Formats: sequence, structure tokens, C-alpha cells
Amino acid sequence: MEQIHIAIDGPAGAGKSTIAKILADKIEVDYLDTGAMYRALTYHIIKCNLDIDKEEIIINEAEKIDINFVNNSIYLNNQNIDNEIRSSQVSKNVSTISKISRVREIMVDKQREIARHKSVIMDGRDIGTVVLPNANVKFYLDASIEIRAQRRYNELANKREVEFEDLKNDIIKRDDMDSKRDVSPLKKANDALIIDTTDKSIDQVVCEMINIISSVK
Ligand code: C5P
Repeated sequence: MEQIHIAIDGPAGAGKSTIAKILADKIEVDYLDTGAMYRALTYHIIKCNLDIDKEEIIINEAEKIDINFVNNSIYLNNQNIDNEIRSSQVSKNVSTISKISRVREIMVDKQREIARHKSVIMDGRDIGTVVLPNANVKFYLDASIEIRAQRRYNELANKREVEFEDLKNDIIKRDDMDSKRDVSPLKKANDALIIDTTDKSIDQVVCEMINIISSVK
């Protein structure tokens, strides 16, 4: 198979990006974190003090800004924003921005363009359903809300003060908005394989996925 496209979708904290990165290294293909793109636009809107509820303004900015990936790091207008996009302020607001239909069109165009001539593992919410409907393999990663919140908490706890319950509620709210929005909501594609990562180690999940990928390659 010359080119392989692998779609990984699922709710926040299911382990998508951690696993996608390891998988991409192991099978030597590129990795694209599509959530980082929506986060980059959200960060830009907040940084410029623009009104998050004004769709025209957000669309206008989405059309203007330059989002780029270099070695899995994200750049907004040539500035590295890997840390900035992980702030709780960005996490709290990103779903308001990602539900705008025109914003999604702009992002999906960029994502498809990146995948056009190469093999790629993409993670997000609508990869198997919208961005790469013909992906060779589609996974839907899930886990209990407790474990997903715990993982996010472990990632963040050293960096800033966060209450576990607040973080858990933010995740519940974000998943709710992402799965109930009108345009390309978070949804398992009909042909996606569900992997519940609740009681599994990263290695176990990666191993399971590699076996599945090898069987279609
Ligand atoms: O993957 P991550 O949790 O960083 O994504 C942040 C947010 O970006 C999601 O909660 C969702 O609102 C949005 N997103 C999306 N479609 C994608 C990827 C992310 O709407 N393909």
C-alpha cells in the first residue's frame, strides 16, 4: 500500500494524541493533531481580545491566520504555541469556536491538503466521518470519564493549580458541546473500531492498533 491514512476519533482524554504519536513513530508515518488547529484559532481570538461569540469576526480571523506544523510542533503566524494552546482558558472556549461551520470548512480543507500526498495518522472528532471518510483504518478511542479526567489532571497538575472536579466538569461540558453540535459532531464512524482504553496501558493499546493496521496494510 503506497499511502496509508489512519483516523483516530474520540472524546477528550481518551488517549488519542499520546497513542497517535507513538503509533506514528512506530509505523513511520506523519501525525496530525487536528485539535491543535482549533486550539490555535481559539488562542489567537483570546490573545487578540476578540469577542468569542461573534462568528463573523472568528471566521475572518480563521481565514487570515497561518497555522503550520513543524516536527509535531504547532506555529501560529510563525510563533511556536505548543504550550499556549493547552491553557485551561483555551480548553474552555475551543468548543464554541469549533462548532462554527465555516471555521470547520477552513480547517478540514487544510487537514485534507496535508494528507493529500502522504501517509498520515490524524486524530480529532470528525476524522473518520468527515475529514478522511476513505481512511484505510478508523479507530474510535473511548474511556470512562473518571479515567479521562484523571489523565488530563496528571498531565496538568504540575504546571498549574487545577481542581480535579473542575477539570472533570470542563471535559464533560466540552464533550457535550462537541457531540451535540450541528456540524460534524463527535461521532463514531460506522466502520470505526472501538477501543476502550479505560483499563489498558498505552503499550497494550498501541499493540492492538498495530496488529489491526498490519492486517490491512
Ligand atoms: O483534541 P483536543 O481535545 O485538543 O481538541 C480540542 C477541541 O477541538 C475539541 O474539544 C473540539 O471542540 C475541537 N475539535 C474538533 N474537531 C476535531 C478536533 C478537535 O471540533 N477534528
